Amino acid sequence: MKNRKYLVINGPNLNRLGKREPGIYGAQTLEDLKAELVSFSRELLMDLSFEQSNNEGDIIDFIHGAEGEFCGIVLNAGAYTHYSYAIRDAIASVDVPVIEVHLSNVHAREEFRRESVIAPVTIGQISGFGFDSYRLALQVFHNQFKGDTL
Ligand code: DQA
Repeated sequence: MKNRKYLVINGPNLNRLGKREPGIYGAQTLEDLKAELVSFSRELLMDLSFEQSNNEGDIIDFIHGAEGEFCGIVLNAGAYTHYSYAIRDAIASVDVPVIEVHLSNVHAREEFRRESVIAPVTIGQISGFGFDSYRLALQVFHNQFKGDTL
């Protein structure tokens, strides 16, 4: 796939960015994130799409729908990260590389956030760098892009 299309999926409560626990997640909104990533993706000559849902099934559908459409997925599954075997299985079911991202450093917070049930089926996890976590994930995909088939 030579189209350099990538998908950013944000899960539950990430539509509340800017209002939600700003001490942890910052004052910027999901729209701000989108704008920053669109401008960064242009520098990398990537074509970026965005999805957000508070529902597990939607996230699973986004992942399934990415096969054959996108070269990679940047996924912030929110709290589903820590217990959704269904999202884990969805990632394992598609031939699309996924990078798990988190705004906060999940390893420096409550105990339950230290486990990611999706990490074993991703190509890596980036956690703790705010919007830069997403930017770093896009940079990884950019560096790995070979311009050939998936
Ligand atoms: C989060 C971390 C999760 O533990 C939490 O449930 C979120 C956001 C992050 O981006 O830091 O909703 O994924």
